[in-house]
Amino acid sequence: MGKLLIEGGCKLKGKINVSGFKNAAVAIIPATILAGDKCIIENLPNIEDVHVLKRILTQLGGNVSFDHEQKLMKADTSKIEDCFASYEMAKELRASYYLLGASLGRFKKARVSFPGGCNIGSRPIDQHIKGFEALGAKVQIEHGIIHVEAEELKGAEIYLDVASVGATINIMMAACRATGKTIIENAAKEPHIVDVANFLNAMGADVRGAGTDVIKIHGVDEMHGCTYSVIPDQIEAGTFMIMAASTGGDVIIDNIIPKHLEPITAKLREMGLEIEEYGESLRVVGKEKLKKANIKTLVYPGFPTDLQQPISALLTQAEGTSIITETIYEGRFKYVDELKRMGAQIKVEGNVAIIQGVERLSGTEVAATDLRAGAALVIAGLMADGVTQIDNIHYIDRGYESIEKKLLSLGAKIKRVE
Ligand code: EPZ
Repeated sequence: MGKLLIEGGCKLKGKINVSGFKNAAVAIIPATILAGDKCIIENLPNIEDVHVLKRILTQLGGNVSFDHEQKLMKADTSKIEDCFASYEMAKELRASYYLLGASLGRFKKARVSFPGGCNIGSRPIDQHIKGFEALGAKVQIEHGIIHVEAEELKGAEIYLDVASVGATINIMMAACRATGKTIIENAAKEPHIVDVANFLNAMGADVRGAGTDVIKIHGVDEMHGCTYSVIPDQIEAGTFMIMAASTGGDVIIDNIIPKHLEPITAKLREMGLEIEEYGESLRVVGKEKLKKANIKTLVYPGFPTDLQQPISALLTQAEGTSIITETIYEGRFKYVDELKRMGAQIKVEGNVAIIQGVERLSGTEVAATDLRAGAALVIAGLMADGVTQIDNIHYIDRGYESIEKKLLSLGAKIKRVE
């Protein structure tokens, strides 16, 4: 297992390029099953989740290649005839559940083991199942395998109890091949919902309204291959904005869509940081002293839950007391114990964390508990006095492309030890 060693105190300076969005990529890759044809996906991040999904599609009978340098995947799913994803295959990531929606759409059946993914709460899939059943599928769960099957998929009106990203995308995929019109109400509005909808339409689907809370899908008889480029990862971009702020640095972040970053940009400006936006880039200029901030995670366009852990690490050194309310996941404060080992003053009460700013964190051995917790510990290490050793960095590799290479290019003192 690899570890990251970080010596804190270096001001990050320079420019980094944001990679393609993990959470869009992990839906778009399974969605190629709907094409039953050759798809070319560009701007894919070179991360573990993409490699796992390539392996799964190949095991299902697909012909898939991924060129890391070109960040380009060629996926021919014409030879896939069925979908059975075992626990071994599906446990590596949450997004394995997208195999259900794509395969139900194309084959009218699928069997996928319960998904894996970050341990940040219970993460049920009842809304996915509700959508599949509304479309006419029978859903059975036995021995940890989700079986979905339908004689025929028929368009339906589906009102989501929770504006779930995963359920919105999964239902959208199955509905592409249902007869008639499907309406998803209370749909999630995250940028990658739009990205996946654009990809489905590039394959010949008819999805309208993605990005709003009402999405209409007119079923089509067949879909085909396409070439598509994934949007930039606003969570990676936000993480690097916070890293620049944590070191009082001066960093240009290239290949972004400013609109997607509004919640984080607004919050960092509130903390006293200077952020200049120009076209597809922005510049973050750090300050010696950071003001406290209160944050409540919400569905888009609220403050994203995936940046709650990174910004909480930053707030451990802000002046005053900050209040963080996590409204999406009930178990997303596990990393707090690791930050406290570095001297952070944090009290967690239910879904609220109260952070009392301290002068400086001090480096020690810590362990990542999930992907974004890993990012939070990297940020803490960049700020801390001395050396921080971060264990379980395979979590970080799932969602951040060559994080140490990008940080080294900004002057960080960081190295990976196996
Ligand atoms: C996606 O997870 C992302 N993962 C998560 O990012 C992200 O935190 C989350 O969306 C919210 O933005 C991927 O895209 C692979 P949800 P997902 O369904 O789809 C409840 C990261 O760090 N819920 O919107 O699982 C659920 O319990 C990862 O990149 C139900 O109750 O998120 C949670 O409280 C972590 N029933 C809330 O909705 C359901 O059927 C949000 O879940 C589905 C969800």
